[in-house]
Amino acid sequence: MDVSRANVSAQRIQDVLSTEPSIVDAKSEGKSALLGEHISFKHVNFSYNNSKTAEDSILRDINFEASRGETVAIIGSTGAGKSTLVQLIPRLYDVTSGSVVIDGRDIRNIPLAELRHNIGMVLQDSFLFTGSIRDNISLGKVDAKEEDIIEVAKIAQVHDFISKLPHGYDTKVGQKGVNLSGGQKQRISIARTLLIKPSILIMDDSTSALDSETERKLRNALKGLIKDNITFIIAQRISSCIDAEKILVMDEGTIVGSGTHQELLENCTVYQDIYRSQFGEREVSYEHK
Ligand SMILES: Nc1ncnc2c1ncn2[C@@H]1O[C@H](COP(=O)(O)OP(=O)(O)O)[C@@H](O)[C@H]1O
Ligand SMILES: [Mg+2]
Repeated sequence: MDVSRANVSAQRIQDVLSTEPSIVDAKSEGKSALLGEHISFKHVNFSYNNSKTAEDSILRDINFEASRGETVAIIGSTGAGKSTLVQLIPRLYDVTSGSVVIDGRDIRNIPLAELRHNIGMVLQDSFLFTGSIRDNISLGKVDAKEEDIIEVAKIAQVHDFISKLPHGYDTKVGQKGVNLSGGQKQRISIARTLLIKPSILIMDDSTSALDSETERKLRNALKGLIKDNITFIIAQRISSCIDAEKILVMDEGTIVGSGTHQELLENCTVYQDIYRSQFGEREVSYEHK
């Protein structure tokens, strides 16, 4: 019985190992290093099965640009395509047509290692590994100094919590360790991503489990750090996007509005609807803090 089970497993492992990746790496062209000065989406269309028919398309004619120092917030209902859009940036998937361009280079011409080295992504579902909290934060930079780990934990609003644990940063997480709440896991994942100092920072709904007060503190603490980055924030709450230089409002795979909070309140009905659903039926106020 064991032999036949092992045989099936071995076959499956073999299948995985011999799969040709659909993402083809680019050769290094000896170009200057990527700096993340500018990003643009140009007529990006995308479907998960690479089909060009309308019913399969997940993203349709996405166009926007952003420069270093700017924050792009993406808001819109579940299934609108927000996560899909940001996953195109590190080439977790390739566009079906159109292009994503960073610093003037189509990302398909940038070696994957170089591209991904510049991008830090906090996923929608935060994932911690078995090991200590320190291991989890320093995952992307194992030789990080203690002070750097503490600095990012402070920004992520999780240092106070960690330092109150009996074993502090050496506390084990996972089955045999401390039980962490969703919000604590999210904050540790944020600290992990900040530690690698990415020039393009992507946070996919990564503050959803935080209360508004903690989220506000986090946003303020991030400000100093992200002035030199291009930051993408996918958020449910209007309060998370209010300071962004550019807010993209997504609906069913397209951008139905883009601009600042004020501009969208004035001219984007989808944004006004989201605003009303979060701040009640009272008149749309232009002075929200
Ligand atoms: N791996 C996948 N394969 C096929 N369809 C997917 C996949 N991931 C997401 N989708 C579909 O793409 C659409 C957009 O999803 P997503 O980008 O996750 O939206 P959002 O992040 O705005 O909630 C949804 O209809 C979803 O079902
Ligand atoms: Mg999503």
